[in-house]
Amino acid sequence: MTVAFLLNGTPVRIEGEAPTRTLLDWLREVRGLKGTKEGCNEGDCGACTVMVTDAEGSKALNACILFLPQLHGKAVRTVEGISGPDGQMHPVQAAMVAHHGSQCGFCTPGFVVSMAVAHLNGAVDHDDQLAGNLCRCTGYAPIIRAAEAASGEVVPEWMVADRAAVADFAAGEAGAFRPSDSDTLADWYVEHPDAVLVAGATDVGLWVTKQLRELRPVAFLNGVEDLKAVEVQGGQLHVGACVTISALREAVKDRLPSFGELLRRYASVQVRNAATIGGNIANGSPIGDGPPALIALGATLHLRRGDEMRSIPLEDFFLEYRKQDRRPGEFVAGVSFAEQAPALRCYKISKRFDQDISAVCGCFNVTVTDGVVEEARIAFGGMAGVPKRASAAEAALVGKPWSEATVQAAAQAMAGDFTPLSDMRASAGYRMLTAQNLLRRYFHDLNGAPVSVLEVTP
Ligand SMILES: Cc1cc2nc3c(=O)[nH]c(=O)nc-3n(C[C@H](O)[C@H](O)[C@H](O)COP(=O)(O)OP(=O)(O)OC[C@H]3O[C@@H](n4cnc5c(N)ncnc54)[C@H](O)[C@@H]3O)c2cc1C
Ligand code: FES
Ligand code: FES
Repeated sequence: MTVAFLLNGTPVRIEGEAPTRTLLDWLREVRGLKGTKEGCNEGDCGACTVMVTDAEGSKALNACILFLPQLHGKAVRTVEGISGPDGQMHPVQAAMVAHHGSQCGFCTPGFVVSMAVAHLNGAVDHDDQLAGNLCRCTGYAPIIRAAEAASGEVVPEWMVADRAAVADFAAGEAGAFRPSDSDTLADWYVEHPDAVLVAGATDVGLWVTKQLRELRPVAFLNGVEDLKAVEVQGGQLHVGACVTISALREAVKDRLPSFGELLRRYASVQVRNAATIGGNIANGSPIGDGPPALIALGATLHLRRGDEMRSIPLEDFFLEYRKQDRRPGEFVAGVSFAEQAPALRCYKISKRFDQDISAVCGCFNVTVTDGVVEEARIAFGGMAGVPKRASAAEAALVGKPWSEATVQAAAQAMAGDFTPLSDMRASAGYRMLTAQNLLRRYFHDLNGAPVSVLEVTP
């Protein structure tokens, strides 16, 4: 395997490593760059955050679930490259010192890299930018104060240098299979139907770091440019499978604000910058956040095998727990859904507000005409072995007046829709009651009542 990228401004060429070698392991074990820390090794703590720059810009990513071939042709900056070439401190580093943003220091390199990337990109929503970085001793107030203090400072020139350098960098062919278009991927995958497709690796990464699985052969999808498009056509948004959750959030946040808000609570900046909507659908997880929202929007899934394309309603893709309607050699090409849906609301219930997996994710899209329910699409994650519509509740709504009594009856009907499980995130009883109450919340939400803890102020 050959992989080439810029590391702290200097070209590196790697030969002979396994395609699933993570950047974190390679940095620490081969390059001796130990500023990038290993905390959880599963994308949850941000101690391993690095900056990765390509034609799309500079992003914070978790090195622990980033495979080396995903970096081919890009520029990587670790915490060692955040300070200047003559050892000058970056403004976020100086602010961390001034505001006492570090105690034991274990989390600090990750915070500094996240802060430096946000600073470079002019992002000042510091709570969101740092939601993927955990600190166990300092407390977040001094860190946020440091981020605020640094935000007015000039971006150092070495931080912008990667953008020009990466444009001029001739990486050559990647040794690992890393197609640059979907035709090449389609031909290859028909020939290698047992291969593992790696998109953002925010699931697959854990198969390697936690389950110690050996994956061969592997195709890396993050170079497939035509699957990264977002297009609007005839009132539909067409989103390629390799569109990241960050890019999807940008595309929907003004059109479908509730979906955008759900995606703000999807993991962290680092995970959203890597994870793709295709991976989120293809993995078939019953607790993924994308599918319930998309099913409520009436989304159509586009699949491709060789030259053959087919499109199905997204809800039909999920057959049973971890079993999807996908043939050998077939991949997810994209998904289309309504560009506007004023009645769409997405509610994520998790133990923690930021960076947590849903216990229940309920998405509602009810059309009311002249006080009567004309159409209802209600989909849940966390309530069954697959993301699933609440068909009985929908049936109890359609044709009825949009009233509290109708909603009450539909909530009762929902008991027939699901047999949820008890697990570490929630009990079956909690899940059912929550799902029913989310329908009630939706009714009040559409009627203009404040329903989010963030909206309710004294
Ligand atoms: C710390 C952390 C927090 C998370 N939080 C959330 C969360 O809040 N909400 C949530 O929904 N998920 C969450 N996830 C799960 C994960 O981010 C998503 O499932 C993600 O969307 C997967 O996308 P990916 O591109 O990283 O997929 P990958 O890991 O690359 O692939 C996942 C699966 O899909 C297959 N695949 C990928 N692309 C395609 C394709 N185009 N066609 C066919 N198969 C394909 C792969 O072969 C694999 O089986 C979290 C993960 C981590 C590590
Ligand atoms: S080590 Fe925790 S996110 Fe990478
Ligand atoms: S300073 Fe110790 S974990 Fe943050």
